[in-house]
Amino acid sequence: KASEAFIRMLPKAELHLHLEGSLEPELMFRLAERNGIQLPYGSVDEVRKAYDFTNLQSFLDIYYQCADVLRTEQDFYDLTWAYLEHCQQDGVVHIEPFFDPQTHTDRGIDIGTVVSGITRALRDGNEQLDISSGLILCFLRHLSEDDAFATLDLAQPYLQHFVGVGLDSSEVGNPPEKFARVFSRCKELGLKRVAHAGEEGPVAYIEGALDILDVQRIDHGVRCTDSEAMMARLAHENIPLTVCPLSNTRLKVYQHMSEHPILTLLERGLCVTVNADDPAFFGGYLLTNYMALVDSLDMSREQAARLAANSLTASFASEEQKALWL
Ligand code: HPA
Ligand code: ZN
Repeated sequence: KASEAFIRMLPKAELHLHLEGSLEPELMFRLAERNGIQLPYGSVDEVRKAYDFTNLQSFLDIYYQCADVLRTEQDFYDLTWAYLEHCQQDGVVHIEPFFDPQTHTDRGIDIGTVVSGITRALRDGNEQLDISSGLILCFLRHLSEDDAFATLDLAQPYLQHFVGVGLDSSEVGNPPEKFARVFSRCKELGLKRVAHAGEEGPVAYIEGALDILDVQRIDHGVRCTDSEAMMARLAHENIPLTVCPLSNTRLKVYQHMSEHPILTLLERGLCVTVNADDPAFFGGYLLTNYMALVDSLDMSREQAARLAANSLTASFASEEQKALWL
């Protein structure tokens, strides 16, 4: 079995992390006070008790509500910096975090405020912690494609700050096809593409993300286990999956970690990676996710090392940078 010290020292990338999902209750209370906002919770303990989810939507309802404390450039800086400190703790050398501009612009926050706070922290993380990064703008799939296009317009002045775009929020009923035109436009703009698919949604959504959105990676993708053909395709085409173990058990995709298919997929030759998704809501950062696999699936050192190497390979870092890590 792999030890925590062994996994910590492996160079790792994190490729599926929502910055809004790294908002710890303690920081949420601090920002609420700083911004004069009354929270619907009395204490940190009360907040953590509310984080008892039954599915993706039950989480998203609370997640969007919590994000309301994020108002100023400094708030977005503090949020991002706190996450970078966890990365340093866990031996993470590269990150490609998500943010959801619509969650903020819909509340009247300027997208420039959001992007500036996040990118200032990422720059400090690069200089002070030696953690490289590429920011990914996610469109909310429960909103319309027109809304996504409007968001892309708002983001236009900041495009040089993004490595790519993603697609998140309520999956079932919002298939990839809904965003075919905006993803095509993003490709023309030279942006990489990723999409959440096959978390709660069917294999057809993974197929749609690949064939219609032309994504380089699938976020989650665990429901590929429903289809031998899809597992074979993902392995053959070397499409990375950014898998999030603690997220999957907290949102009841699996009832227990012992049922999680990540190591089975790894052994079938898929490029699977480990990620935290929304660590403040799901019970832990990257290293905790790796350790959950040790504890429930007896993950070996060799498997941990392959998962860590996959995360670097699957990243959008340059080939020169990858050669230095691998
Ligand atoms: N799935 C969909 N949307 C999300 C998630 C997720 O796991 N986390 C934050 N937004
Ligand atoms: Zn996610």
